[in-house]
Amino acid sequence: MDYPCAVATRIVETSDSRQTEALGAELAAALTPGDIVLVRGELGAGKTTFVRGAARALGVSDPVTSPTFGIGHRYQGSHVIVSHLDLYRLAGLHEEEPELLDDYLGPDRIAFVEWPEETSAELRDACLLVTLTHQGGDRRRIEVRERDECSQAVTPPVEPRWSGRMRGKETVR
Ligand SMILES: Nc1ncnc2c1ncn2[C@@H]1O[C@H](COP(=O)(O)OP(=O)(O)OP(=O)(O)O)[C@@H](O)[C@H]1O
Ligand SMILES: [Mg+2]
Repeated sequence: MDYPCAVATRIVETSDSRQTEALGAELAAALTPGDIVLVRGELGAGKTTFVRGAARALGVSDPVTSPTFGIGHRYQGSHVIVSHLDLYRLAGLHEEEPELLDDYLGPDRIAFVEWPEETSAELRDACLLVTLTHQGGDRRRIEVRERDECSQAVTPPVEPRWSGRMRGKETVR
């Protein structure tokens, strides 16, 4: 079935961290260098767990952990550099040097950004939004969708669009 105008949305409920990692791995298979994925959710929702699964699937063999010092890690994947940013401790990107994120973003890398400031100019090209929500116990609701802002933000439009890459798996709302 084809949904040419719809923004594809995938919603999955996981019941342990391995399932969340597996969903991250599934998303990774649809990513291409240059993609930026914003990963939202409360403390302990499973953002880093999701990113770990994605990074593993992209060929990262180093341990994928939350950055303790600095804003992120860069990992060598099998064909791409994988950046993992956690902006939790930043007061706001507008208060930082404009080039703060430069080492982590770019056409040859895939970036995952926890605690993103979604309105920031630095993240305007981020087309994907993953939102994790606690559902009690170990259950998490995970929504993967294309950002509404993205079609206007990226010029020229990235092809294939994310919704095209998700075809066959989407839930359309
Ligand atoms: N279904 C699940 N999905 C993901 N993690 C789960 C799940 N069930 C339990 N967990 C546990 O919840 C914790 C999630 O930690 P994680 O560091 O991934 O969260 P986070 O959202 O990145 O937190 P923070 O906001 O501190 O960065 C882990 O200890 C993980 O084992
Ligand atoms: Mg985290």
